[in-house]
Amino acid sequence: MTPTLIELVCEGLENLRDRGEERLSVDDSARAILRKWLRSPQKAAPPPASSPPAPVSLLAACHSPRDIAPETASRAPETVEEKLAFLLRRAEHWPPARRLGTLRDTMVFATGNPHAQLMLVGEAPGFDEERLREPFVGRAGQKLDQIIAAMGLKREELYISNICKFRPAIAGGNQGTANRAPSDEEIAACLPLILAEIRAIQPRCIICLGGTAAKGLLGSAGSVSSLRGRFHEVQGVPARVTYHPSYLLRNETLSAKRAVWEDMLAVMERLGMPVTERQSRYFLSAR
Ligand code: URA
Repeated sequence: MTPTLIELVCEGLENLRDRGEERLSVDDSARAILRKWLRSPQKAAPPPASSPPAPVSLLAACHSPRDIAPETASRAPETVEEKLAFLLRRAEHWPPARRLGTLRDTMVFATGNPHAQLMLVGEAPGFDEERLREPFVGRAGQKLDQIIAAMGLKREELYISNICKFRPAIAGGNQGTANRAPSDEEIAACLPLILAEIRAIQPRCIICLGGTAAKGLLGSAGSVSSLRGRFHEVQGVPARVTYHPSYLLRNETLSAKRAVWEDMLAVMERLGMPVTERQSRYFLSAR
């Protein structure tokens, strides 16, 4: 796909930044072009105030030609859908990740509702996610779906993404179904993408699913158990850390389930969601 003007500009700016440039001089003719661009009448019409945000699959929405139509391609993205479509296209060829050579080729972006109040951030796509190009569609995803359902929510109401947008490769070629966690370098390479997603979505709350997501978003190498139990902040958004759903697949104890559930209860309370008496007692041992 031919890159749009704004993508080429971003690419050029990123290359300069990667070379250590911190300032840029813009001459009069470039300034005039930028001014014209910003004042371009081709502004997207704002969505009618009365239409509620429809939950859409981001993958489908962002691959739709309508969202990357040429008439929107020459100006800065404005709506959340445009911003995500733009980010998805940037992520496909994300140079900092590609340069590492340790991540596989298929980019897995995000799924869910661009207008979500709650954003979940996992680690990286695995075998199933790479195949279907959607986060959390394997066994860990099924466990996550159970947690979401217990909260009284639907997957389509949330925005679900990963710290790392590519399945980490395992040296030696044919890695089959084997997965590994992304390295610090891989997390750092993809971090600008998830931070830009947070700025676009502006959720009211973020859940870091597991230590890798917490490490990336909070910049803390602490264990999940040491980071749980309180709200942190990511770009001004309250963020809660909990165990990764795959931890619950390995550890089916009542106390592990209750720990994750208490994190979900805290998030529900933060979002002003109703919590039934029954919900508040999930995974408490019968005494
Ligand atoms: N685990 C993750 O952290 N993310 C996925 O998308 C799938 C499994």
